[in-house]
Amino acid sequence: MTEKKSFLEEVIDGLSQEQKTLPCKYLYDARGSLLFEEICELDEYYPTRTELAIMHRYSEEVSSQVGEEALLIEYGSGSSRKTRLLLDSLREPSCYVPIDISPEILADSAAAIAKIYPDLEVHPLCADYLSPVAIPIPEKQFRRRVVYFPGSTIGNFEPVEALEFLARMARQAGSGGGVLIGVDLRKDSQVLERAYDDARGVTAQFDLNLLVRMNRELGADFPLDDFRHTARWEPDLGRVEMRLVCKAACRVDIAGHAFDFSAGEYIHTESAYKYDVGEFASLATKAGLSPQTVWTDDSKKFSIHYLTVPDSLGFQSGSDREPIDPDLG
Ligand code: AVI
Repeated sequence: MTEKKSFLEEVIDGLSQEQKTLPCKYLYDARGSLLFEEICELDEYYPTRTELAIMHRYSEEVSSQVGEEALLIEYGSGSSRKTRLLLDSLREPSCYVPIDISPEILADSAAAIAKIYPDLEVHPLCADYLSPVAIPIPEKQFRRRVVYFPGSTIGNFEPVEALEFLARMARQAGSGGGVLIGVDLRKDSQVLERAYDDARGVTAQFDLNLLVRMNRELGADFPLDDFRHTARWEPDLGRVEMRLVCKAACRVDIAGHAFDFSAGEYIHTESAYKYDVGEFASLATKAGLSPQTVWTDDSKKFSIHYLTVPDSLGFQSGSDREPIDPDLG
């Protein structure tokens, strides 16, 4: 098994590349997570409220697709806000397995859910959902496992990674299981760029916080005032790129490693891929899932897909390890 790389190793690797880049997961320290919650409330950031509105509007249909006595697994459950909307409409859900890396948020939200839904078995799992996790066997019987992945976080994966991750969800749900996933859609470039570079500058603070974090945790000496945040829609790649642009040439030291920045050069800090409905359905199909229903808002800003795992694939329910398709490697 390969050792997981440390923050410092990933920073050195990323900044040594021709196009300097940093993994977006490091945006979420305590301050970054609070700023992200603030982003979700911004007028310009439409995904959160649009997804909630779709869930609200189609809750009956979603519930009938998921069916009775489901075991619901949620990746990156956070405050479980969207989940409550789902749980309210599901028919006698058996068990809820929220997975989150933050122990405090997980404990609070799992306790709140257990209180609101006393008949639901709640098994919180404190883990990084990006790594394989074993799902507990509940005491209550259940009919199918359904993996819930809202928020269009799938858009922060490179398409090949998204394919692998969808295949992993399929294995985790197992034969006869389902995947309910939120996916942001392609749209006008101005709307997209504003969503990732708002007027109040909250997203800018969120992005620039990565430099603050490197200075604090890695002893780096980024001159904070010499970098600015920008968001750029790249139509050919189908993604919004968040960038930290260097305003004046500088040399930055990180734990004895020197990195030179020229004026105008940028660090690519996050990609947010946007899909067409059909494009995402084909990606999911390649991952071994069968598209069932897609719900969108009237302006087709956001989509929620329900996909199932066909029996024919013969996955052992809940397993996270079997290869799904030899072609996927
Ligand atoms: C977490 N993720 C789905 C957000 C997004 O829209 O890509 C992260 C984000 N970055 C800036 N604003 C929001």
